[in-house]
Amino acid sequence: MGRMNLTKEQKQKIEELLAQMTVEEKVGQMNQLSPSIVGGFDVSMEELIEMVTDGRITNEEFGKIMSQAERDFHEDEVRAGKVGSFLLNNPKKANELQRIAVEESRMGIPLIYGLDVIHGFRTTFPIPLAETCSWNPQVFEASAAVAAREASSHGVHWTFAPMVDIARDARWGRISESAGEDPYLGSVYSRAKVRGYQGKNPADRERIAATLKHFVAYGAVEAGQDYNTVSMARSMLHNGYLPPVKAAVEEGAMTVMAAFNDYNGVPCTVNSYLLRSVLKEGYGFEGFVVSDANAIRECVNHGIAEDLADASRKATAAGMDMDMGSNAYNSHLVQQIENKEVSMEALDEAVRRILSVKMALGLFDHPYAEEERMELYDGELNPEHRAVALDAAKRSIVLLKNDNILPLKKEAKIALVGALADDRDNCLGAWFADGRGSDCITVKAGLERAGAQVAYAPCCGVESELQAEELRSVAADADVIVAVVGETNAMSGEASSRADITLPGHQQELLAAALATGKPVVAVLMNGRPLALQWEHEHVPALVETWQLGVTHGDAVAAVLFGDYNPSGKLCATFPAMTGQCPRYYNHPNTGRPASKSKFTSRYLDAPLEPLYPFGYGLSYTEFVYENLKVEEQADTFRVTVQVRNAGSCTGEETVQLYLRDVVGSIVRPVKELKAFEKVTLKPGESREVTLTLAKKDMGFYNDEMEYCLEDGAFIFYVGGNSRDCLKEERRVAFEK
Ligand code: GLC
Repeated sequence: MGRMNLTKEQKQKIEELLAQMTVEEKVGQMNQLSPSIVGGFDVSMEELIEMVTDGRITNEEFGKIMSQAERDFHEDEVRAGKVGSFLLNNPKKANELQRIAVEESRMGIPLIYGLDVIHGFRTTFPIPLAETCSWNPQVFEASAAVAAREASSHGVHWTFAPMVDIARDARWGRISESAGEDPYLGSVYSRAKVRGYQGKNPADRERIAATLKHFVAYGAVEAGQDYNTVSMARSMLHNGYLPPVKAAVEEGAMTVMAAFNDYNGVPCTVNSYLLRSVLKEGYGFEGFVVSDANAIRECVNHGIAEDLADASRKATAAGMDMDMGSNAYNSHLVQQIENKEVSMEALDEAVRRILSVKMALGLFDHPYAEEERMELYDGELNPEHRAVALDAAKRSIVLLKNDNILPLKKEAKIALVGALADDRDNCLGAWFADGRGSDCITVKAGLERAGAQVAYAPCCGVESELQAEELRSVAADADVIVAVVGETNAMSGEASSRADITLPGHQQELLAAALATGKPVVAVLMNGRPLALQWEHEHVPALVETWQLGVTHGDAVAAVLFGDYNPSGKLCATFPAMTGQCPRYYNHPNTGRPASKSKFTSRYLDAPLEPLYPFGYGLSYTEFVYENLKVEEQADTFRVTVQVRNAGSCTGEETVQLYLRDVVGSIVRPVKELKAFEKVTLKPGESREVTLTLAKKDMGFYNDEMEYCLEDGAFIFYVGGNSRDCLKEERRVAFEK
């Protein structure tokens, strides 16, 4: 569980280093810096972050300062052994600093370079919320492996990914970076990402350390408001939010990043229940924990620390091993050790973990970025990597509605409208490390590259007025209107919660005007979160969710619109009918008055009972019929089989999903929980028996005392192509005591 797999000799070397290190040098290892900007506002990077965080400067001003200002790389502090890590994407500068650390500092301990390589380094892949809709662990792993190969060529040792936050509230902007709302699918995702980034041997030059973030329950911020408070029962934490973390620690994840939020009143940054009892002791995690940016300093804002010194003391005591950017440890920890406010044992534990990760990454053997690889991915996009991205992008697209409009004929005359259709930057999504808008194929370019007859006019931007005349003109002799609508990539991601998740601006008017022409209309959605699309669902005959797919966005969209790829994506997050339904997720408790037409049930007076599109939902150009569900109890498993038939006219891939309901428990249990899924590709008319296996040990849950409970009683097995439309069988189960 979470082992670093170090040899005896490597462990011995770490102990020898610890024995020789001064307190200052130990504290230095716990300090991560970003290059401070100078000449901008003459303030430190952390002050600048505060200024953009509290709105004293805008994101654009921040970006401009960063691009123009010189940087202070803290060479003297590196030479003095006061820096253990940098957040850096600059291979030449990385090697210069590394040479100082390795050859000029007293202990010669290499720096570890971290970066946000969230969905690709130079080759930008679909945002995580999109990629998870492929329900394909090979896709998850392959994109991470490409990102690791490219990032490591730039001297990056460590990515602050995967984000494994369970996200159930679409108002929260960071749902775009998540794997959605389900703990089982999230666990499949987190394991695959750790394998992709770290490989079997993280010391391999093309692999990088993974970070499980944000630990924990950041996706449960109250009201979907970023950085907000989080309160939940420990049973909900262990059943609903921790499984992807536990799974990825078992897969060998090397680092964890603590979340900004508090958990039940104690910020994760200083929460020893989470960092020590759950992660380090409970899960046996042997890597290190890094704070989120400036988060130790922000414990003062939380009101859990009086000042930075108090925050430093509390964070170390709680098991926070590395300080990202608040300079708390470098400012106070030496003194606190000397005053015995912090134990040398706690200090050594943190440093031992950091040195273990550096050792497991091979940094003591190969600390420098390889000159011959540095520019390998700086020119044209690598074609193999681009091909991996195209496969992921096609599989990430979800067909939400199709009233026999799609697929389009290649010879159709298309009126393409919506400014997003020709906007390369917005294909990148919320995080792009070395990604460039110029790398991206827009929807317009994708349709043209596919040989389509396209007449394009923007007609309406995400936040601009509708140009109705322009629409009438471009649509005049078209056979079909394709309207690209959605969000800019600045409307999701960090610090981008939205209180109204309908289409922004006048885009709904654009769709209405397109419909008013009487031509068939296809809405292509580009967005970073589930949107409230009730009106669109009721009026627009075809809706295609294409998210932000990265460099191959337009090629993937064209492949789906023309039927060259039959859409197979399935939603990993529920689409509410309206914002007021948030948070909305499928695996909820039944309550004493489950929603029904009756007034006195758990429902809204002014909203539908159901979400618009449920978890696991996604259409195909063909139709899959489910028959003959069988549930067979075996010694340690349930073997569930179902006949799936392709009743349509084209080959398609279906994701067959198995859900379980524990009807009666010692705490209330969700009405459904995803427990397994299998993919099957069927030709027209073909039928196949699909088998899904559920181990009996996986039919339990954690109670508030963190005890795993397997309780006899009735269980309902559901199988279908989404979480709503399922065949079902009930069984009584008695577990072996
Ligand atoms: C940000 C994010 C975190 C990211 C870190 C470094 O504030 O919360 O996900 O990895 O800072 O950029």
